[in-house]
Amino acid sequence: MDEQIPVKTSLSELYPADALTTSKKRWKNLISKFQSEFGHNPTFIARCPGRVNIIGEHIDYSLYDALPAGVVADVIIAVASSLAKSNQFAVAISNTNPEKFSSRNLEFKDKDSIDIDAAKHEWTNYFKAGLKGALPLLSKANPDFRQSNLEILVDGTVPTGGGLSSSAAFVCASALSVLYGNGVHSITKRSLTELAIVSERSVGVNSGGMDQSASVCSESGKALHVAFYPQLSVEPVSFPKTDPPLTFMIAQSFVASDKHVTGPVCYNLRVVEVTLAAEYIAAKLGLKLPQDSSSLGRSLRGLQEAYFASNKTNKDFSSESDRVSHMLSLVQEHLSNKNGYDRQEIATTLGISISELEERYMTTFPIHAENFLLNQRATHVYSEALRVHKFITLMKESSPSSSQESETLLKELGDLMNQSQISCREVYDCSCPELDEMCNIAREAGSYGSRLTGAGWGGCTVHLVPKDKVDDIRTAWIDKYYKTKKPDLSQEQRAEAVVVSEPGHGAMIIELQDNSEFLT
Ligand code: ATP
Ligand code: GLA
Ligand code: MG
Repeated sequence: MDEQIPVKTSLSELYPADALTTSKKRWKNLISKFQSEFGHNPTFIARCPGRVNIIGEHIDYSLYDALPAGVVADVIIAVASSLAKSNQFAVAISNTNPEKFSSRNLEFKDKDSIDIDAAKHEWTNYFKAGLKGALPLLSKANPDFRQSNLEILVDGTVPTGGGLSSSAAFVCASALSVLYGNGVHSITKRSLTELAIVSERSVGVNSGGMDQSASVCSESGKALHVAFYPQLSVEPVSFPKTDPPLTFMIAQSFVASDKHVTGPVCYNLRVVEVTLAAEYIAAKLGLKLPQDSSSLGRSLRGLQEAYFASNKTNKDFSSESDRVSHMLSLVQEHLSNKNGYDRQEIATTLGISISELEERYMTTFPIHAENFLLNQRATHVYSEALRVHKFITLMKESSPSSSQESETLLKELGDLMNQSQISCREVYDCSCPELDEMCNIAREAGSYGSRLTGAGWGGCTVHLVPKDKVDDIRTAWIDKYYKTKKPDLSQEQRAEAVVVSEPGHGAMIIELQDNSEFLT
């Protein structure tokens, strides 16, 4: 992650060959719209993709590994900058979809006055999140720097609220635009990822770090193993060669899942539940949880580390999987009540008052719940961590030499994805009937493994599929889901419903020189 964000002048390294022609058209269109909006050319374009998560759902904020991949769909931002005359600065920001995202002139008193009202669902909050995250880095590069005025035009092809993390693509591309637009041209992948992880939380969703890591660090054609402990790290992982070749299909359910609106009862509540589960078991065992980089600063991963660093067990757990399995057994022992825990019981166990409990865990990101299903949430996290470990080991260590060996491998990988879906549905409660149905249809038509991807409660599904079954599965969804359950989809939505593509490249800057292919 210490290498720099690539700066290029052409798109050929960015998109796969089959997406190049349409992409060029789109980039040219962005530039000509920028010219009409601002009266001159942009100087560069920042680009960050969405991501699909193959396995490892809702465990990044407990600091367990995930396996996402960049997608080809992305957010591109055309930028021009000019030095501000005083500490005051302005950002003129527009979108190529002005009906949905109207233009704004953002004015800031100085670089310390970036206020984000997370209670409002306003698209420019995501830009401001990137801006806010970038400023400390700019001050570090030059303590006397003065923020430039910026002209910004945004275009996105990642479906919004669709589980493919348009938000991270937008926040990462925004931060990149601000950094590059203020003259910082050597930006490491680590610094961009880390600032975007923290700054995206200011829009009101207490998210983990998987999306930003994938958006910044993905490599074409590969999945990305993202680890969060002991520190953020990434490793691109190739897909095993199988016969028939494997591919991933991504299909939208068209059930909108607005995490911003449902946060208090869905996403942000889960973050609180897993944190309280860790605190509860730690209190029962007389352990003190270390502060860590998880969303609320204490995590189930931290619990695992504290437990094995203590003298609570003298058994020898030789592998990471053994240690995580042991954590699963501790959950059943110390958090056995499947009916849930109320504030009083949790506060008493932690030795604090209810108001302290609320102040510590439920104030920055408010939640609405009386009963906390701590057993189920911790069970999902540790079991999903085990599945990720098995999945990545299989990917790295398998090289099937016959179609029979390929079949065995695809089944094993697919089973892990199917188990992940069961756990998301029944234990973590983050699926919905439509996602389950799309997974069932795909499995009946030949998918080896099918599951929701991203936060869930709607959005997208991902499927591990032998290439020769792609058409059958697509047809099954059209006949049994899109035509019958979603008859009102627009032509555009129908065209974008199912995506089969190679994993795409991570963040990039494209410099627009005078002879640029886009300016002609
Ligand atoms: P998930 O987080 O489940 O993977 P997601 O990131 O697409 O899916 P949200 O986190 O709810 O969904 O973020 C969606 C929001 O991001 C939009 O409502 C909008 O405010 C902002 N956004 C994303 N892409 C764009 C874009 N191209 N133009 C303007 N705003 C955008
Ligand atoms: C959202 C969050 C991520 C992650 C996923 C669930 O996409 O932004 O950090 O928690 O949900 O795996
Ligand atoms: Mg998002």
